[in-house]
Amino acid sequence: MRLRSPAKVNLFLEVLKKRDDGYHEIETLITPISLFDRIRIEASPDIRVRCSHPDIPNGSGNLVHRALVALRDHCDLEQGITVTIDKRIPPGSGLGGGSSNAAACLLGVNRLLGLNLDRSTLLDVGASIGSDVNAFLTPGASICRGRGEITEKAALPDPLHLLLLIPDIQCETPKVYEKAAKFLNSDPMRVSLSELKERENWSDKNLFNRLQQPAFEVYPELETFFREVRRISEGTPLLSGSGSTVFFVSPDSEQIQQEHDRFSSRSLTTPFKIFTVQTLPDEWHPFEPLS
Ligand code: C5P
Repeated sequence: MRLRSPAKVNLFLEVLKKRDDGYHEIETLITPISLFDRIRIEASPDIRVRCSHPDIPNGSGNLVHRALVALRDHCDLEQGITVTIDKRIPPGSGLGGGSSNAAACLLGVNRLLGLNLDRSTLLDVGASIGSDVNAFLTPGASICRGRGEITEKAALPDPLHLLLLIPDIQCETPKVYEKAAKFLNSDPMRVSLSELKERENWSDKNLFNRLQQPAFEVYPELETFFREVRRISEGTPLLSGSGSTVFFVSPDSEQIQQEHDRFSSRSLTTPFKIFTVQTLPDEWHPFEPLS
C-alpha cells in the first residue's frame, strides 16, 4: 500500500504553562499542507522501518517504528510490517514530518490489515507516541490542546496558500521548549476561531507563535534568517512550531506568488529550500489511489 504523509504548519501556537510531567500546556492551530513524504507499507514477518534521509534513524529509533510497536501491543498483533519512507519533508523544520509518518502508518496499517480500529483507539495510540500525531489523525485543520494531543476540528478558508522557506537549520524541539519558560505571560493569547474561518475576516494579526523568540535564542542564525526574510517580504512571516520553517499564508494565491517571486532567485545568509503549497481539505486522506 502506498501512502502520502503531509507536512503541517502551526498558524497559531500559545504556550500556557509548564506541566508537572515536563511537557508544556499549549493551544495551537495546525493545518496539513501539500508537501508530502511518500511511504510504502507491506506485510512482513516483523516490524522494519527504512527511511531515505541520512539524518533520520532506520529501525527502532524511528517514530514510525514506535507507532507500529504501540499498535502491535495494543491489538496483540502477530503480523509485522515493513515501512519504506521517501523523505521530502526536512527533519528539524517544524513541519511535523515524523509525527505525520507515524499517523499515516497507523491509518495505513489499520486499513491494510483490516483491523477496524475506531478513531478513539487510533487517537489513544497516537497520543502515546508523540504530541503532534493526533493532529494528523484528525482530517483538515485542528485546534490542539493539552500537550497537543487533544484535537478539535477547526474550519479555515479553503484553501489557504502558503510559501515555505526552509533554512538549512535543524531545530530541536525540547531545546526550544526549555527556553520558552521566560516568555510565558499571565495573559495568554487565544486563537480566535470565528475570525479565522471566514475568508473576508482573514487577517495576519491572528498568526502567532510563542515559540518564535525562544527558537531565536537557541538558534541565533534562525533569527538572522527571519529578519532577512521580513526585510525582503511585504507580508507577515511566521515560524512554524519550534522552527526552522518560516512561512507566509494567505487566502489570496496572487499574494503568495508575489512573495515566491521575491525569494525564488535570492540568496540569503543561510541556504534555504522554497515551496509553494496549499492547505489540505477535510476530505483529504493519505491513501494513494492504485495506479
Ligand atoms: O511529544 P513529542 O515527543 O513530539 O515532544 C518532543 C519534546 O518537545 C518533548 O520531549 C518536550 O521536551 C517538548 N514538548 C513540550 N511540550 C509540548 C510538546 C513537546 O515540552 N506540548
